[in-house]
Amino acid sequence: MSSGKYDFDSRIDRTGTACEKWDDLKINFGREDLLPFWVADMDFRSAPEITEALRERVEFGVFGYPSEQMETYREAVANWERRRHGWGVSLDEVGLMPGVITGLSVALCELTAPGDGVVIQSPIYPPFFREITHNGRKVVENPLAETDKGYVMDLDHLRSVLTPDVKAILLCSPHNPVARVWKKEELQDLGRLCVEHDIAVICDEIHQDLIYSDAKHIPLSLACPELEGRMVTLAAPSKTFNIAGLRASAWIARDREIYRRLHSAFRRFHLGGINMFGLAALEAAYNRCEAWLDALMEYLEKNRDTVEKFLASRLPRVKLKHPEGTYIFWLDFRDYSFEQKELMDVLVNRAGVAMNNGVPFGRMGEGFARLNIGCPRSQLEAGLDRLADAFGKL
Ligand SMILES: Cc1ncc(COP(=O)(O)O)c(C=O)c1O
Repeated sequence: MSSGKYDFDSRIDRTGTACEKWDDLKINFGREDLLPFWVADMDFRSAPEITEALRERVEFGVFGYPSEQMETYREAVANWERRRHGWGVSLDEVGLMPGVITGLSVALCELTAPGDGVVIQSPIYPPFFREITHNGRKVVENPLAETDKGYVMDLDHLRSVLTPDVKAILLCSPHNPVARVWKKEELQDLGRLCVEHDIAVICDEIHQDLIYSDAKHIPLSLACPELEGRMVTLAAPSKTFNIAGLRASAWIARDREIYRRLHSAFRRFHLGGINMFGLAALEAAYNRCEAWLDALMEYLEKNRDTVEKFLASRLPRVKLKHPEGTYIFWLDFRDYSFEQKELMDVLVNRAGVAMNNGVPFGRMGEGFARLNIGCPRSQLEAGLDRLADAFGKL
């Protein structure tokens, strides 16, 4: 047992469970004998209270339509935001949806028009690029600036790309993949610019609960109330409680007109409902699993410290800016001067690890790969040893 009464140490073989991270290795990396550190879910069992809520549903044995009118689910989301993040959201400002990228896409369609420019700050979670182009909008990149202290938003560059045809920004807060937890002042500086240039803000806060002890997540709408008339926040228990497969997420809009428009867009595509298992898990997670989350964060923080210490002592040519949140870390292999293809070949065929290729995260991803530390420490250490064996010889 570890981290109090919860077990994060036991290794779980997920092969043969229709699991993307373990069962799709061959399709994505060409071989199946790899240790997986890619897809952003965790190799941990979820909180026991969630499993219990699902068990009750299964044992009931009737799986007809769940009520979409019940307020308890939206209340659970609002209470969570209030309790955990100090954000006074009320239940009639919350809507439910299957996934955060679903919400991102619906919000893009509602808050912008075809042909509009939409800003993203690369390197960024690849679907941000995809959803903009799939919906006939144009990607406007405002790359993050790399500084000695970490990545920051480049507001001077942002100002220069905010032409009148740019109508929205997709913010990732905390940021996947650079693991930054934006500070209040950074959010406020960005917020002022969005108001000045009259652009909408779609704020993906899916990683909001995965914050290390030296950082604090501030919901954008709380940091910048003046944005409320032009923004929507997307959140979910999926990353936090490792229940991404249950497809339960939430969107929050404080402005009545934006709420009405999004609500009707979700209805138009019949996307407002969540399956009954997702609903049961969301409610259990937000109402009863805070102790599990605290234990998880304690464990993940030790994993983070392990990675930082390991790289400093055994792989000093691989760089990592201090991660403030999330369990996905942006490893910098540029010191080896590999072509990206060569880097991926060393990771897969010499080290035997599956990490995400940095390039789909944007041009700045050349020379980078993303490491998922959401796994038992012994598994993480085995992966780090594999990296040291392979890269130590180069
Ligand atoms: C920033 C970000 N947004 C959204 C998602 C996925 O959300 P969903 O599976 O709910 O669509 C991820 C998953 O890694 C993510 O990192």
